[in-house]
Amino acid sequence: MHGSYAHPRLAANEFQQRLLAWFDRYGRHDLPWQSPRSVYRVWVSEIMLQQTQVATVIGYFERFMARFPTLESLAKAPQDEVLHLWTGLGYYARARNLHKAAQVAWQEHNGELPTESLDALVALPGIGRSTAGAIIAQSTGQRAAILDGNVKRSLTRLHALPGWPGKPDVERKLWALAEYYTPAERLADYTQAMMDFGATLCKRSKPDCLSCPFNDVCLAYAQGEPKRYPESKPKKALPTRQTIMLMLRDPQGAGMAGTASA
Ligand code: ADE
Repeated sequence: MHGSYAHPRLAANEFQQRLLAWFDRYGRHDLPWQSPRSVYRVWVSEIMLQQTQVATVIGYFERFMARFPTLESLAKAPQDEVLHLWTGLGYYARARNLHKAAQVAWQEHNGELPTESLDALVALPGIGRSTAGAIIAQSTGQRAAILDGNVKRSLTRLHALPGWPGKPDVERKLWALAEYYTPAERLADYTQAMMDFGATLCKRSKPDCLSCPFNDVCLAYAQGEPKRYPESKPKKALPTRQTIMLMLRDPQGAGMAGTASA
């Protein structure tokens, strides 16, 4: 229908240069997890940032680091102390998973988070593929792509990619684009730049297209309706086979709940 992959709008090096030039001027360079940038600190920040905005996370992150400065201190802490420091952030499964993952890393990975591969990180509780990519790229500099909600929004707009990004076929195309554009150098900056770009410029309801370094190549902008993307989740399921059979047997009554008889 729409092809099995989406054509990039720019050569990868051109995309990277434009994004990083934008980041150098307008990106966030003073976030607490950026200095010092350890695997442990980046991991905790990424878990907090999964469902919470940067401005809210900063205070929680600093209190958390003051109490649990190392993976060992977190692994050995009682769970109620971990949850106490999470109070107000919400989504408490994140805190329980973080604590559990610290214990697994402490016991089974020589006291360190296993950053040698995406799969090793994804095997830990609370770490999906995008979070694993964000941790590896920011803390080790190895090449790894991210695809969180912000990045999905920017990439669907740039390519005018139809379909709901939660659909496996659409998500696969987005991952392919995300991987394609990811550079081999400046991984931490590039990763933060992708997040900042989606959060502060290519915003959900007020994209700042006039200031965008990609407005000459953005297909959604060219179509005049950038907010049409990403498309939302389809509301209604298609009729099931059983419903179709009932409609064929009784075209009058099939649409009305409770009217079908055996
Ligand atoms: N969301 C997830 N990770 C983030 C980060 N490092 N900066 C901003 N937003 C984020």
